[in-house]
Amino acid sequence: SGPETVTPTGAKTGAPKTANAQQGEYLTTAHGARLTNSDQSLKAGARGPVLLQDHHFREKISHFDHERIPERVVHARGAGAHGVFRGYGTASKISQAGVFAKDKETPVFVRFSTVLGSRGSGDLARDTRGFSTKFYTDEGNWDLVGNNMPVFFIQDAIKFPDVIHAGKPQPDREIPQAQSAHDTFWDFVSLHTEAQHHTLWNMSDRGIPRSFRMMEGFGVHTFRLIAEGGETVLVKFHWKPRLGVHSVTWEEAQLINGADPDFHRRDLADAIEAGAFPQWELGVQVFEDNDDQTFQGIDLLDPTKIVPEELAPVEPIGLMTLDKNPTNFFAETEQIAFNPNNLVPGIDVTNDPLLQGRLFSYLDTQISRLGGPNWNQLPINRSHAPVNDMLRDGMHQTAVHGGVAPYRPNSLDGGNPFETPADARPFIDFPQPVAASVKERKRPQSFEDHFSHPRLFWLSLSEVEREHTAQAYAFELGKCWDENIRVRQLRHLAAIDPDLGRNVATMLGLPEPEPTEAPAKDVEPSAAFTQVGKTWPT
Ligand code: HEM
Repeated sequence: SGPETVTPTGAKTGAPKTANAQQGEYLTTAHGARLTNSDQSLKAGARGPVLLQDHHFREKISHFDHERIPERVVHARGAGAHGVFRGYGTASKISQAGVFAKDKETPVFVRFSTVLGSRGSGDLARDTRGFSTKFYTDEGNWDLVGNNMPVFFIQDAIKFPDVIHAGKPQPDREIPQAQSAHDTFWDFVSLHTEAQHHTLWNMSDRGIPRSFRMMEGFGVHTFRLIAEGGETVLVKFHWKPRLGVHSVTWEEAQLINGADPDFHRRDLADAIEAGAFPQWELGVQVFEDNDDQTFQGIDLLDPTKIVPEELAPVEPIGLMTLDKNPTNFFAETEQIAFNPNNLVPGIDVTNDPLLQGRLFSYLDTQISRLGGPNWNQLPINRSHAPVNDMLRDGMHQTAVHGGVAPYRPNSLDGGNPFETPADARPFIDFPQPVAASVKERKRPQSFEDHFSHPRLFWLSLSEVEREHTAQAYAFELGKCWDENIRVRQLRHLAAIDPDLGRNVATMLGLPEPEPTEAPAKDVEPSAAFTQVGKTWPT
């Protein structure tokens, strides 16, 4: 067992367990020697030079000099809260994961974020919002690392550095800090028809939420659930806010960002402090785990596609309540490390090539962000289930591992940690056939339809939402200096919907655009979505 533990926030719902960082009444050095003066440095006489011998001065200044860690390479600005997830039991027939069991309560920590701005940027930027949840389950940590939009800009993780390089502030002036209104972003988007769907969500009112408490969350990718008997289904995860989905107008966003750039994090913390605990229902759209991983013609492995809820309703499986603010932003909100690899028995990944790349990236970046491979030992990241991982040593190791034989099998330390007791469920790498194929850098043909799904989303918007969206495109493209880029992007808008293309072109004083030629595989929504079906097992 680890060191003596206390819960720093005293939270009933899963504050991290940690040795209390500060004890005792008196100021001491980091080594515990009591100090009497921390206001004057040690000098040669009252006016003399400061002495190198002043160990307290050097320790205080040097520690301060190293207080900062790298901010996240994306999603640097965020706010978090503790809470609890209660399963409804409705998913127990499709997943053996204990977290879904009826009335099972699991502590969680959630971090909401913007994507592109730095740690100090404003909350009301037009941007995607991160919505990450760490479930501290009895079977290990499960991280659902999602966004407030159900689709993504790219279909293959190998393009992630490209889309982020294009979206981050331009390298010459580091402007703009947080918004998408610049040439590199629109250059990328206009050169990638696959980016049209996510960009449309960004330009819609979803890009400027009223509050973190009023956002939906989406796992985006399709995941695989495994039932007790080994049967599998494919699912998409959805968070539905009890307060409904609300946005602000662009003008409101400008005013709020100017007056209070901390508006969203203040809103979350104030609501929790006042006892107005925000709640979300977790739900799943459920699909048969068929050979081609499609549902009614929609490729479930393509993260630029949605499955309309009319075709596959979201079935509620549990309720999350955020009821405790962090005690220390750095220790909790900043040091938390979400990772789509953190899965528990009964929940597995699929072959979505964007998800597959994420499985490498998060672990990798956290080794750099959190200074070595031992960040799992940080209180906020520590599993609430017992850990016996045979990982040893490394930078910032805080555990004192006993025994002499961190390898298996061994006959020296007694017991074999890899022998799973009969009543425990191990994590299953779900056996899946892999198509015999040549090694190639190629995307499937079903990934080439880039306009039918943005069109679906566009058609679902109300009149006023469409107006806001067209205005957002006109405003943002109006900041783009290169007319070739503007014209190229307008053609994509015309391919999504002729009215959208025409309206934005008019606002920009440009001629009506010819729609981009739709790739051969583009399908009309009406043709693709003819059968309304429900796949929830009875
Ligand atoms: C961070 C979501 C795609 C790399 C994050 C965070 C969220 C998120 C919510 C913030 C986590 C936090 O609060 O600490 C998503 C979603 C994606 C996606 C929903 C697609 C559907 C990708 C891809 C990559 C990637 C394709 C790379 C191949 C990263 C990295 C971080 C991050 C490096 C920073 C993690 C850290 O420093 O702790 N992502 N992301 N993401 N994401 Fe993604």
